[in-house]
Amino acid sequence: MKTQIELLRRELEQHNYNYYVLSSPTISDFEFDAKLRELQELEAAYPEFFDPNSPTQRVGSDIASGFEQVAHVYPMLSLGNTYSEGEVQDFYERVRKSLNEDFELVCELKYDGTSISLTYEEGVLVRAVTRGDGEKGDDVTANVKTIRSIPLRLQGNYPDKFEIRGEILMPWAVFDELNKEREAQEEQLFANPRNAASGTLKLQNSAVVASRKLDAFFYYLLGENLPCENHYDNLQAAHSWGFKISTATKVCKNLQDVSDFINYWDVERKNLPVATDGIVIKVNSLNQQKNLGFTAKSPRWAIAYKFQAEKAVTRLNSVSYQVGRTGAVTPVANLDPVQLSGTTVKRASLHNADIIESLDLHIGDMVFVEKGGEIIPKITAVDFDARLLIGDKVQFIKNCPECGAALVRYEGEAAHYCPNENACPPQIKGKMEHFVSRKAMNIDGLGSETINLLYENNLLNNIADIYELKVPDLVRLERLGNKSALNIKTSCEKSKEVPFERVIFALGIRFVGETVAKKLAFAFKNIETLESATYDELITVDEIGDRIAQSVMRYFADERNIKMLARLKSFGLQMSLSEEKLQVAGDALKGLSIVISGTFARHSRDEYKTLIEQHGGKNVGSVSSKTSFILAGENMGPEKLKKAQSLGVKLVNEDEFLTMLGDVKEEKKGFTGTLF
Ligand code: IVH
Repeated sequence: MKTQIELLRRELEQHNYNYYVLSSPTISDFEFDAKLRELQELEAAYPEFFDPNSPTQRVGSDIASGFEQVAHVYPMLSLGNTYSEGEVQDFYERVRKSLNEDFELVCELKYDGTSISLTYEEGVLVRAVTRGDGEKGDDVTANVKTIRSIPLRLQGNYPDKFEIRGEILMPWAVFDELNKEREAQEEQLFANPRNAASGTLKLQNSAVVASRKLDAFFYYLLGENLPCENHYDNLQAAHSWGFKISTATKVCKNLQDVSDFINYWDVERKNLPVATDGIVIKVNSLNQQKNLGFTAKSPRWAIAYKFQAEKAVTRLNSVSYQVGRTGAVTPVANLDPVQLSGTTVKRASLHNADIIESLDLHIGDMVFVEKGGEIIPKITAVDFDARLLIGDKVQFIKNCPECGAALVRYEGEAAHYCPNENACPPQIKGKMEHFVSRKAMNIDGLGSETINLLYENNLLNNIADIYELKVPDLVRLERLGNKSALNIKTSCEKSKEVPFERVIFALGIRFVGETVAKKLAFAFKNIETLESATYDELITVDEIGDRIAQSVMRYFADERNIKMLARLKSFGLQMSLSEEKLQVAGDALKGLSIVISGTFARHSRDEYKTLIEQHGGKNVGSVSSKTSFILAGENMGPEKLKKAQSLGVKLVNEDEFLTMLGDVKEEKKGFTGTLF
């Protein structure tokens, strides 16, 4: 059986490589999924053959602890930047003088994502660390493993141990899709794919990382036994081991070749599926690189040439303000239409009051608009020389443009908010849209136009009204037929089964997203306890800090919300955790604080977390002298291990742990706990 599992793993690895690295799949997605499922089933049936680098491990798990900090063996330096070909020429001259012999350069695209350092030992990915401060970074191995174009196991003739560095990227198409989803959920948009990629890599939940479809290109090998004497050939070797190396990598013999590369890619890069912000020029020979060495911050053998962001100058006509579901007020500049990177720009985001202030904006100003890596153009400066007649200074509004309420600004937040949650039209409508959305109550038939219509007709004033909509009232409205009206009613009925944690999420409490809603539901068990939770009780919950606690307190301090919740309860919505989830399986772990670390064969980390709670224990994130023991899996984080050893905290492996709970280990297929 072991051989069969291994063969299937190899086969799936090859298909992953064909698909994600070579972009030429040889089987259909359907066939791939079938094979992956087959492997998942075999691995579940034969946990003794578990492998942390199996293709099944790329789907991620719900890990919920901070990242370990790891020191870089070789510091992660940055590159000197240049913005003109003249400066590239200066670099060339410096190198020429210093080496005093012939040399070659390699030109590469400068990918605009987040850098990563991977360590491979015996052909297996053992660690992935972010740049951090250059000296040490976060160990994000579990998240990186979900990126399909990164090989977990290498092929061919690779060195025993080496590091490879590259850029993790979110392709434009994924970025656009993600932002569309976030817009619908009224979550803050990512400004560019770089922020989206680095934000994703720092997520605590690798299953979400897996769903974000990140990609990666590699451009730098480090180690004692690299196969070749020059950079270009090493990259080609890395490609043969399974890494994605950009085909836009060229050996250049002279400055003219470099200039041709720059000019070609300044135009062509716009057709690439990922963001680039320049090119990197490196000395090819490793020996010459060594001779040139490093300054304190960057290598002397490489330089980055940054592409100019496209700019235009246009007139600022006015500033308008948009109010979102959460009450956040976004200022938007209305401009004379201008052509920029092939599109007509009429509006630009001004982000917040501080940005308006720092630009010293006046109506009628000629402003510079840029569309760098950003999807939404931004105003970068005012052309003060063109300011002949000075218009009114742009002052952030004091009152909500929709309902007139005085705006507030919470400490530490850049945004202004309209606090009139229950009477400001876009907030009321936005809250309803959120309430019915798929991840919340999942009520069909109530799109934003229908909600608007019902609101205008006074049939919906708050989310509880949704359950009192009557078919005749709905039908009377011009755009709704009988069938749609019945569909809405049926869907409302069905939504009464939606579990408590999703009901909390659906309420649209500011800063309470899906994960926080789950945490609140599991910590407080029912709406009454949550309603009366004190600040201190709230902040003891994992991942809930001051900002969220304050927001929850504010929500429950409002009488109107309490009345509305009472109505929702009377309609039969789930206002407490289901019996199953409340079920206590025993008190074998009563009073114990347990840290989970590493990867496991028999249950996912989330399953272990639930098991701990169901047996009366507490799952905590970091090791301290109060930790009772560590539930330790494979590849436990080195920092945690060190800390455990220095404090004398016991390590318990998963079999020992399951034995403590009354030996459920043979029952893996029928997991005895209950999960959300
Ligand atoms: S080489 C010692 N090559 O740009 C220098 N970097 O400012 C190692 N980057 O931190 C970096 N594409 O995140 C190199 N082809 C490329 C690159 C590249 C993007 C990023 C990388 C680095 C930053 C340098």
